[in-house]
Amino acid sequence: MQKKILVTGAAGFIGFHLAQYLKARGDDVIGLDNFNDYYSPALKRQRAHFLKEKGIALVEGDICNGRMLHDLMERQHFTHVVNLAAQAGVRYSLTNPQAYIKANIEGFTNILEVCRNYPETPLIYASSSSVYGRNTKVPFDVQDRVDHQASLYGVTKKTNELLADTYHHLYNIPVTGLRFFTVYGPWGRPDMAYYSFTKAIMLEQPIDVYNYGKLKRDFTYIDDIVKGIVAAIDLGAKCELFNLGNNQPVSLEEFIETLETIIGKKAIRRFLPMQAGDVLETYADISHSQSQLKFIPQTSLKQGLERFVDWYKQNTSY
Ligand SMILES: NC(=O)c1ccc[n+]([C@@H]2O[C@H](COP(=O)([O-])OP(=O)(O)OC[C@H]3O[C@@H](n4cnc5c(N)ncnc54)[C@H](O)[C@@H]3O)[C@@H](O)[C@H]2O)c1
Repeated sequence: MQKKILVTGAAGFIGFHLAQYLKARGDDVIGLDNFNDYYSPALKRQRAHFLKEKGIALVEGDICNGRMLHDLMERQHFTHVVNLAAQAGVRYSLTNPQAYIKANIEGFTNILEVCRNYPETPLIYASSSSVYGRNTKVPFDVQDRVDHQASLYGVTKKTNELLADTYHHLYNIPVTGLRFFTVYGPWGRPDMAYYSFTKAIMLEQPIDVYNYGKLKRDFTYIDDIVKGIVAAIDLGAKCELFNLGNNQPVSLEEFIETLETIIGKKAIRRFLPMQAGDVLETYADISHSQSQLKFIPQTSLKQGLERFVDWYKQNTSY
């Protein structure tokens, strides 16, 4: 049966790729985004332009506007809601906590308040590996306790999970939270390290290497993430959490060396201590996602970064 899906944050990195995938397989998709200037609005507009060319309408609006959300839901009769709209990024949450409270808590509560009237409509929403916060046991399992956050960003994502669980309990809304692990790829986010490092290495400018390179991240390629989200949409679970990560953490040093080889230039490393809000390692246990979503990441870091660098070379202006 054809689905009709609202994708919030559709001018964002993940939403842009998800919307195209859903449309290509025959679903009806409507996007929503407020085009804020956390990073280049020109990049968001360009993504929206491509979506429009593919027949995907994008409403310009804010999830903090409850009235607008109610009207949209009433008019469009969505079969599913995917909430990706959020204030993303760990480091920015140290300098602008209010932006996170606004979009991630007030905005997400609006989404739940609207969904409350449509208990047949599953809500799939973005959480984050950041909810594992100061946990040290790896790999991170969805069954692990996540009571000790490392950043305000993590707090807001953990709050999303608590809110969703409670709305499910109170109003029986089907809710699925997806904990994404460091997603990268073409059309990605300029605020993330893979993007800014690529730019700096090409321009022969220094890169900031935090904790002297002794960090590990479970980099996960965008196409693998999209398949995981689509599987969660199709599953329509009652109340679930899934890790969507590559299950292969890579050290920052190995990551930089891979980029150097692909670009064909040496990075100028500026070694710095650990940043507040950062964690030493992220590493997804994906056994639950494998069994329920058939989630098996296919893309190696080298393949994924090659595709990103190819895209970046054609799109240096963002
Ligand atoms: N990319 C990652 O590595 C990663 C990792 C973990 C979790 N996430 C989460 O996944 C989701 C998508 O992330 P992304 O990387 O595509 O980020 P993104 O910033 O590219 O996309 C988010 C989009 O939401 C929009 N937005 C923000 N606040 C809004 C509001 N109040 N109303 C309407 N639109 C709003 C932004 O303009 C942006 O286009 C976010 O919830 C993010 O926190 C991403």
